[in-house]
Amino acid sequence: MSSGAQKYKVMAVLYRGGKAAQEEPRLLGTVENKLGLEGWLREGGHEFIVTDDKEGPNSVFQQNIADTDVLITTPFHPAYLTADLFAKAKKLKLCITAGVGSDHIDLNAANKHKVTVAEVTGSNVVSVAEHVVMSMLLLVRNFVPAHEQIERGQWNVADVARNSFDLEGKVIGTVGAGRIGQRVLKRLVAFDPKELLYFDYAPMPAEAAAALNIRRVADLGDMVSQCDIVTINCPLHENTKGLFNKELLAKMKKGSWLVNTARGAICVAEDVAEALKSGHLNGYAGDVWNVQPAPSDHPWRTMKNTQGGGNGMVPHMSGTTLDAQYRYATGAQEILRRWTAGEKQESANLIVENGEYATKAYGERTKK
Ligand code: NAI
Repeated sequence: MSSGAQKYKVMAVLYRGGKAAQEEPRLLGTVENKLGLEGWLREGGHEFIVTDDKEGPNSVFQQNIADTDVLITTPFHPAYLTADLFAKAKKLKLCITAGVGSDHIDLNAANKHKVTVAEVTGSNVVSVAEHVVMSMLLLVRNFVPAHEQIERGQWNVADVARNSFDLEGKVIGTVGAGRIGQRVLKRLVAFDPKELLYFDYAPMPAEAAAALNIRRVADLGDMVSQCDIVTINCPLHENTKGLFNKELLAKMKKGSWLVNTARGAICVAEDVAEALKSGHLNGYAGDVWNVQPAPSDHPWRTMKNTQGGGNGMVPHMSGTTLDAQYRYATGAQEILRRWTAGEKQESANLIVENGEYATKAYGERTKK
């Protein structure tokens, strides 16, 4: 970065890593390790504020938003940039999502204020796809209750085998067949499912669909009614918020499993917990919550199926493996470098630009 160039105020809202971040410098997405950006930004003469304090009007995030030029956030500890905050963010020009999924930014407000939103597209899609396959396996094999039994000093094979199945021969469907959805499906082929299905308004490229031997289903309710396992891999936007509610969950097969690593708010938390409790769902797993950090009494922390299992929830971690952190940290730096140098961004990284959606993934919309 040339020292004569314009100076900016850059703010990053990241999660606190504490001891773990001090011991592991590759935890780049933390307040302590600052996405590896500090030296580079300071060298360029820019102001760089890094915080995890993001809630309420007195938070560091909200106090500094008025004169911030560039905001860097991650979906793992989302700073919710609402329409109200956009109105206050008079100098804001660029929001960078270090990761994938920019729903914590009010994208319609970003368009209204002509703020660019860019993310590091593809940076953690393999990490999430692996987590999805793992989550399917741990639910279908009844892994968590079996491990908990062992930790308790017990040994009762029948008690856990009574709800343990094979992935082979199951019908598996994805809601959203983009980068993550397609990677999940590709990995599932090795397990010999009975059939792979997808629901997406964007058709999968013919070649990819043929390689997977997948069938597209035009109606979501119709698809979930045919699946033993459903995986959600679409962004959160106006048309996917609360999509998996009581009505849609009722259309799922009795005893089926649901895996959601997309966004918590795509499912109605209480309706999922109720479907599990009643036995309609056999299991639910994922790493995304409707509010993050999730409150200690969130129903998804402790919900169980009728046999006391079926819960594969973890904190938002699937897309933040150390491998992924390296990719999204270097990707965020490259977006920033291009922006400060006045260069064009890679088009795949752009979510909104010049007051318009630059991607088709955040809902079907007609151009203004
Ligand atoms: P992508 O843009 O490659 O694919 C998304 C697909 O969803 C597109 O094909 C789009 O047409 C489809 N879609 C949108 N609305 C839909 C709807 N109403 N019904 C069915 N399909 C719909 O995005 P990618 O990279 O696959 O990521 C998907 C989402 O996964 C992200 O937006 C993010 O929310 C989540 N994610 C979660 C991570 C985690 O750590 N848990 C990490 C990375 C992404």
